[in-house]
This record gives sequence, structure tokens and C-alpha cells, in this order.
Amino acid sequence: MRSRTQRAGAAAVDMSVQIGSVCLPAPLMTAAGTAGYGSELSAFMDLSALGAVVVKSLSADEWAGNPAPRVHETPAGMLNSVGLQGPGVAAWREHELPELIETGARVVVSIWGRSVQDYARAAEALQDCPKQVVAVEVNLSCPNLDGGTHLFAHDPVATAQVLQATSQIGLPLWAKLSPNTDRLVEVAAAAQEAGAEAVTLINTVLGMIIDTESRRPLLGGGGGGLSGPAIRPVAVRAIHDVHVALPDLPIVGVGGCATAVDAVELMLAGASAVQIGTANFVQPSSVEQVQDDLRHWCFSHGVPRVSELTGGVKH
Ligand code: SIN
Repeated sequence: MRSRTQRAGAAAVDMSVQIGSVCLPAPLMTAAGTAGYGSELSAFMDLSALGAVVVKSLSADEWAGNPAPRVHETPAGMLNSVGLQGPGVAAWREHELPELIETGARVVVSIWGRSVQDYARAAEALQDCPKQVVAVEVNLSCPNLDGGTHLFAHDPVATAQVLQATSQIGLPLWAKLSPNTDRLVEVAAAAQEAGAEAVTLINTVLGMIIDTESRRPLLGGGGGGLSGPAIRPVAVRAIHDVHVALPDLPIVGVGGCATAVDAVELMLAGASAVQIGTANFVQPSSVEQVQDDLRHWCFSHGVPRVSELTGGVKH
């Protein structure tokens, strides 16, 4: 139970963050793919209190995704092979976006494609979105398409091509990148050069589970992407290395964050804001709880502005 003094002190902490041209009143967001397409989580928390809601990745066209089973719990995490199922941008705009906007949330739309042209079409379908759509997160790093063999984010040139092709939309672009490459810094630099205002680090880690009785892969898609607390050190390292190499490139941190202390760790590594993913499946109100706890953490540690944490790791 917190005292009135603690609550008043925490309320005075400046929680606003700047990500390129986007100013958010708070640093916590849902991670793409863990909070549905619209207002689903509004039953559990006030979505307008978050920095933003990031919706599950959408392509220009409706897409059925991978065969079941699609998720499996692992020690300290989960493996997914959803395969980017989605209704397509136009149907989402018509059926999901209006209700999401009514919650007062700021919206970040995640888009994906199989080709540069696909990404361009998805971006085109987002033209003239309502002002509540504050940014587009370009997902270049899903490991569940075509057996994980085709990740734009493993190639600086392909990454740059996608960002150039989506820049026509005129909304801030955040490039969601992959930890499954030793070229992460190079890819992040290419994304920045091609117009990304920020990078989102990291998507899931390539993984696989085999059912020892049937001797078959347990997930319908074969392999999958590992998320949850197990990958947090991978995220911290990726964020740190990119922040050191490219200090002017804002980073949205994601990967195994489930508590305020986890969020502080990602920010000290270099993140300007933090997304919560797998923890939403454990506790749907996680994002709001982490944000509130982060505010109190700042107060109890004498941090008047949460943005001061960014890149604050000492060497
Ligand atoms: C999926 O839908 O397969 C997950 C999305 C992602 O990892 O980017």
C-alpha cells in the first residue's frame, strides 16, 4: 500500500518521452501481436494512459497465418508461430480502428509484407489515417514467414528499400528489427539513413521445439520466435550496442519486460520507451501496472523525468 506522499511524489514525475518527432505522455506501450488489433485490452485498463497501443502487424491483404498449434510455453517464455494472421489494413481501418480511437489511445500501426511492393501497398492503405495514429512500426523481422528464411532485417539494403518504399505515407516510421543477425548495428544504421525515426528492438529470437514422442516439430509452422523473460538479456545487449553506435537514433525497447525494474534496465541500455509483450498473456493489465510502478520507481530513486534514464548505464 502506497502512502499519500508517495502517490503525490510519483504523480509529479515527468513520464513524457520523445521518439523522433513523436512525443508520448508516457513511455509504456503494448508490443505488436500481444494486444490484438483494437480495443481488446480496454476491458483491463485505460488505454489512453499508456504511451501508445501498437496493434498486431497488418499487411495490405487479409492473411490466414500459420497452421496450429501456434504457441507453446517454454521455461521463462513462450514460442510462437502465429504467422502474421490478420484482416488486412483496409478491414482493420473499417472495423477495429474507430473503437480503438474511442478509448483515447494513441495508435501505432505495425505493417508487414513479403516484398517491398507489399510494404508499399500496406503503407498506401494507411494514407489519411486519423491523427490518433501517431506512427507506423515497420515489421521487418517476423521469424514465422516462409520458415524464417526471409527476414528483411537481416539485410541492410533490403531494410533500406522497405523504408524508402513506405516513406510516402508521411507518418513517422519505426523499424522493428531482428536480434537474429550479427549485422544489427549495420541494419539499424541503414534504417536510420533510409528515413526511420526510430528502431524497435527486438523481435523474437529464432527457436524450435520438438515433440519427442511424435518426433515432429511441436508448432504447426515448424520453428517459431522465442519471447518472454528468457530473451531480456538479448534485448538489453541489442539496445545497448545500437545506442552506443548510433546515439541519435531513438530506440523503442522490447523483449522480456514484465516489471518496472525490467523497463528501467531497457531504458538504461538506451531505450527511450518500452513495449510489453509476452507479459500481457500472463496478466492483461501488465502494461499499465509496469507504467505505474515505473513512475514510483522514478520517485523513490530521485529521478524527476523518466527520459533521464535513457542510455544511463555506467561503464
Ligand atoms: C507472428 O505473427 O508470427 C509473430 C509476429 C512477429 O514476430 O513479428
